[in-house]
Amino acid sequence: MGSNIRILSAGKYLPDNVLTNYDLEKMVETSDEWIVSRTGIKERRLARENEFTSDLAYKALLNAAEKISFDLNELDALIVATGTPDRLFPSTAARVHGLLGLKKEIASFDLLAACAGFSYAIEVARGLASQGYRYIAVVGAEVLSRFINWNDRTTCVLFGDGAGAIIFQSSDEPGFIYGKLYSNGSLEGLLEIPGGGSMLPSCTADSQEYKIKMLGREVFKYAVSELSSALNEALVKTQTKVNQLSGIFAHQANIRIINSVLERCGIPFEKSFNNIERYGNTSAASIPIIIAEYMETQGMKQNDLYAILSFGAGFVWGVHLYRHS
Ligand code: UT7
Repeated sequence: MGSNIRILSAGKYLPDNVLTNYDLEKMVETSDEWIVSRTGIKERRLARENEFTSDLAYKALLNAAEKISFDLNELDALIVATGTPDRLFPSTAARVHGLLGLKKEIASFDLLAACAGFSYAIEVARGLASQGYRYIAVVGAEVLSRFINWNDRTTCVLFGDGAGAIIFQSSDEPGFIYGKLYSNGSLEGLLEIPGGGSMLPSCTADSQEYKIKMLGREVFKYAVSELSSALNEALVKTQTKVNQLSGIFAHQANIRIINSVLERCGIPFEKSFNNIERYGNTSAASIPIIIAEYMETQGMKQNDLYAILSFGAGFVWGVHLYRHS
C-alpha cells in the first residue's frame, strides 16, 4: 500500500460501427482531404442505438481485468470520467457497478471534466490511494455521437465514441512524479453542450441545444498555448530532459494541436502515440484508449517515463509525468 499509484492494466472498447470521412462527405459539405489535413482523422466509431456510455465503460473495464485475470471485486473505487453520461443520475459508474454485479464496499462515481476527465481522475485516484484505497479503476467513456449536430460540419467530423479503462494499484514507488491541473471557467462559451442540465432542462430531444457547440479556431489556439506552457513547466520543475521521455499520451483532439505543443516544447513528434486517425476525438476516453493500445503493442517497462496531457471544455486541462514501476 502506498500514497502513489501505478498502472496495473489497461483495456479498451470501441464500437464496431465505423464512420469514415467518405461517409461524412455524403452528409455535409466536407472532404476527406480537408478532414485529414486539418485534424488527422480518417474514421471514427459510433455506438449502436442500444449501446450506452455505461455499456462501453463496462466492456473496457472487463477487457482491462481479463488481461491480468483481475477479480473486479478487489476494486476499492470505480471512477467513470465522462461528459456524456447515460443520465444525470444515477451515475454511469453506479450502472457499471451494477452491470458487473460488484460488492457494495466499492465506491463508484462519475467525474466530469470533459476531455480532461482522465487527467482529473488521476489526481482523484492518487488522493484515494493516500487514504488507503488499494485498487482504483478509472474508466474514460463517451457516446459523443448522440450530442453531435450532424448538420454542423465544423463539429460533426471531429468526434467519436469509445472507452478506455485503467486499473491502478496503490504503490510506494514514485508513479506520478508530477501532476498539475488547471482551469479557466471564463471561456465556457467556446465549447459547450448548452442544454440537458438545470440551466436549460426542458429542450426537446432533437433540439440543437443538446448538441456540441464550438468555436474551433479559438479553442485550438488556447489549447496549444496553455498545454505547451504547462508541459514546459512540468519538464523544468522535474528537471526532465526531452530524451528522458519514453513517450507522450496526449488527448486526441487534433493532430495539429498535439504537434504544435510538441514543437513548442522541442519534443520530436514520434514521441507521441496517437490514434486520432482511427477514432477521432473520444474526449475523456482518448488517453486511456491510447495507453491500452500502447500496452498491447509495446508494453511499459520499469522506469519508463511518460507525459500525459489533456485539454477540454471548461476550459480545464492537466499535465502528468508518470514513471512506470
Ligand atoms: O477536445 C478538446 C476540444 N476540441 C478541440 O480542441 C478542437 C480545436 N479546434 C480544432 O481542432 C480546429 O479549429 C478545427 C479542426 C475545428 C478547425 O480547423 P481550423 O484549421 O481551425 O479551421 P477553421 O475553423 O479556421 O476553418 C477554416 C475553413 C472555414 O472556411 P472559411 O471561413 O475559411 O471559408 C470553415 O468554414 O474551413 C471551413 N470548414 C470546413 N471545410 C470543410 C470548417 N469545417 C469544415 C469541414 N469541411 N468539416
